[in-house]
Amino acid sequence: VLDQPTDFTGGVAVVTGAAAGIGAGIARHAAELGMRVVLADVDTAGIDALAARLREEGAEVHAEPTDVRDFEQVNRLADRVFAKWGEVRLLVNNAGVELHGNTWEFATDQWHRIVDVNLNGVFHGIRAFVPRLLTQPSRSHVVNLASVAALRVSPYTSGYAATKHAVLALTEALAQELGAVTDRVVVSVVCPGAVRTNIFSNADVADHDGVGERSRQAMAATLVDVGLEPLEAARIILSGAARGDLRIHTDPEVSRAFITQRAADLAFWD
Ligand SMILES: NC(=O)c1ccc[n+]([C@@H]2O[C@H](COP(=O)([O-])OP(=O)(O)OC[C@H]3O[C@@H](n4cnc5c(N)ncnc54)[C@H](O)[C@@H]3O)[C@@H](O)[C@H]2O)c1
Repeated sequence: VLDQPTDFTGGVAVVTGAAAGIGAGIARHAAELGMRVVLADVDTAGIDALAARLREEGAEVHAEPTDVRDFEQVNRLADRVFAKWGEVRLLVNNAGVELHGNTWEFATDQWHRIVDVNLNGVFHGIRAFVPRLLTQPSRSHVVNLASVAALRVSPYTSGYAATKHAVLALTEALAQELGAVTDRVVVSVVCPGAVRTNIFSNADVADHDGVGERSRQAMAATLVDVGLEPLEAARIILSGAARGDLRIHTDPEVSRAFITQRAADLAFWD
């Protein structure tokens, strides 16, 4: 936790997966805070439309088509942002996808896709931006999106769980490494509970007897029933990041239940 929370006003925010859902909520909230916003997504039409809306509301916005699976594209994103605005105060590695089914039934390209987006995409953001953030005199923040799925293990979403556990681990290691060399690059990992987005409608399914599709539909229904609005989630995420919280929970009760259960599951000595 920082002595003095970061004031994001006037800074540059880069958000991957910014065309929809939580990423769009974070972009919108960053603009509300007076940040210049960079929207990065494979959905070019989506980031162009959001950029137009945010500009109408008075924000300075740059839309950059980017596939986080490809390091060259993420590095090009960083090149263009630094060429245009010279600094980054907030990087949010948010792009993520879902995959449902029995592990042995996933197509290898489905498996590779979820690992490439959810895990390698986060690494690519770190690799492209952190060396530049380390040379910046001002404080900056790196925020990685994990999930409450990083805090437990459940069936039919092994790829999602594995990548989100990995993002939690990688972010915690990154925080320790950066902590050893600087206090200017601050790292957070977000474990959102349900947020009302289309992530499950967009999900990949591997289905032989319907388990994948049932799992996908159950999760989609949960988001509609109890999900936070993306903008509300964005406010929790950016205020936690500004405070320097290493772990940010948008639904503390759900996180607490999963952590308690997981700790009990792991405690072989009981
Ligand atoms: N919605 C939830 O309840 C929830 C809960 C926990 C964690 N999360 C995490 O939050 C993040 C955002 O999820 P969301 O619910 O807003 O999803 P979403 O599907 O609404 O939005 C994801 C965005 O990422 C983009 N994207 C997909 N692949 C990409 C790629 N290769 N490169 C760049 N952009 C890409 C999509 O085009 C989309 O705009 C994800 O990492 C997700 O795992 C979501």
